[in-house]
Amino acid sequence: MSSKTKSRWADDEADAALEAQLKKEKEEKRRLKVAKARKLEAAKQAREASAAAAQQEGDGTNGPPAKRRRISPAREAAQATAPSNESNDAPKLWRFYGGAFAKSRSVENYDKLNDIEEGAYGWVSRAKEVATGKVVALKKLKIDPRDRGGLPITGLREIQILKDCDHRNVVQLREVVVGDDTSKSFSNIFLVLEFLEHDLKSILEDMPEPFLASEVKTLLKQLASGVAYLHDNWILHRDLKTSNLLLNNRGQLKIADFGMARYVGDPAPKLTQLVVTLWYRAPELLLGAVRYGGAVDMWSVGCIFGELLTREPLLQGRNEVDELAKIFELCGTPTDDTWPGFRRLPNARALRLPSTMANGRATTGSGVRAKFPLLTAAGVGLLNGLLTLDPKKRPTAKEMLAHEYFAQDPKPKQEAMFPTFPSKAGQERRRRRETPNAPVRGQQAADFGAVDFSGIFSGREREERGGGFSLRMV
Ligand SMILES: Nc1ncnc2c1ncn2[C@@H]1O[C@H](COP(=O)(O)OP(=O)(O)OP(=O)(O)O)[C@@H](O)[C@H]1O
Ligand SMILES: [Mg+2]
Repeated sequence: MSSKTKSRWADDEADAALEAQLKKEKEEKRRLKVAKARKLEAAKQAREASAAAAQQEGDGTNGPPAKRRRISPAREAAQATAPSNESNDAPKLWRFYGGAFAKSRSVENYDKLNDIEEGAYGWVSRAKEVATGKVVALKKLKIDPRDRGGLPITGLREIQILKDCDHRNVVQLREVVVGDDTSKSFSNIFLVLEFLEHDLKSILEDMPEPFLASEVKTLLKQLASGVAYLHDNWILHRDLKTSNLLLNNRGQLKIADFGMARYVGDPAPKLTQLVVTLWYRAPELLLGAVRYGGAVDMWSVGCIFGELLTREPLLQGRNEVDELAKIFELCGTPTDDTWPGFRRLPNARALRLPSTMANGRATTGSGVRAKFPLLTAAGVGLLNGLLTLDPKKRPTAKEMLAHEYFAQDPKPKQEAMFPTFPSKAGQERRRRRETPNAPVRGQQAADFGAVDFSGIFSGREREERGGGFSLRMV
């Protein structure tokens, strides 16, 4: 027996053989790798060469030739004489998809289920896509008598803006379809919109109890997010009201009806003052401003806020003068301090405004606190902000979203926890309410002249005096 056992790690012939084998395998691997890379390179060159040849031939087998396919003669000549291995120097044409014109699909792709609402100028109905069974809303494009023979500008704007928008609080336009009766030309265009079960106006009219404070916050927050998105993208809606706010059964609110909307720039161009349904129209519009901005939408948001609390439109004027009187009664009269420059607005020059009430109180104070006694201080602060006469002092939609009203208890209710309501749109036609419509293009805006508003606070004075008795401190 040998006195010394050999170490396991000692080199011997077996080790040497193993090492040689590993080395061989490694070299073989490297050789294969190099061969593969060469093969790939050769295939790539062949591909590029054949693509270049196909472009030069322009044989039309891969669709029509590109418009900008002109290659300079000098380069073509150089290529003709160039050796074949330089073929991958051939000019590479980058192709970008630039959109294309295509015929709109037919309305026949949809089966009408029921009318939702027949408006003053158009109609909206519930329909089902034949191919997919998906339920949608079909809105017939409004025809403006002033746009004889052409697509109405309001309809064009509605389509353009809705096509550009992509936000969870803005209704989605799926496509535009046309009727087959071509003799009716432009009266036969339909917007295919995602379908939502309710509009806020119908819900407010039918609900037995008003929304809870947390529900009002959820709705307002979504409205402000949608408006912030629009304003961020240079879009003014110009007809925000509860019947243009849709709600689905998952508590999601979406802004709809872009028939009055338009893109604006900075500084805002001259715009028509005859926008926004009367009850939601900002004081600067009533006073004839032709340069205005997102603040007109924020005024409407304030009116909607009030309506969500009481289930009644906040400022129901019978006409423009009466609307302004109602605004002053609730928000106080403007002065040069509270609204610098308002006297320069066309309809403000000859207005006669009271400065004190019969009881000697100033007329500039707001009546919002008194009208909404149950609203929290933060809520009154926000509502007063939105209903500020001077448009420059109204909060923007972004500022509104950051308002402490939304941070305070009760917190906005989660959308998923929002109550559901029986859908009117799913069954019979929604009731047409006796409410003012959006103004029609071409109508004459009111010229107030010298209106006397001195009696507008008699209502507030009566309220403050109380109904036939007065309290005395003893
Ligand atoms: N996508 C939709 N899903 C469900 N209902 C809808 C949808 N779009 C509109 N509606 C319903 O149809 C009504 C009218 O729609 P919209 O406001 O877009 O049309 P309009 O012709 O401009 O109406 P109006 O002149 O009354 O404002 C809405 O108040 C709503 O009840
Ligand atoms: Mg509408």
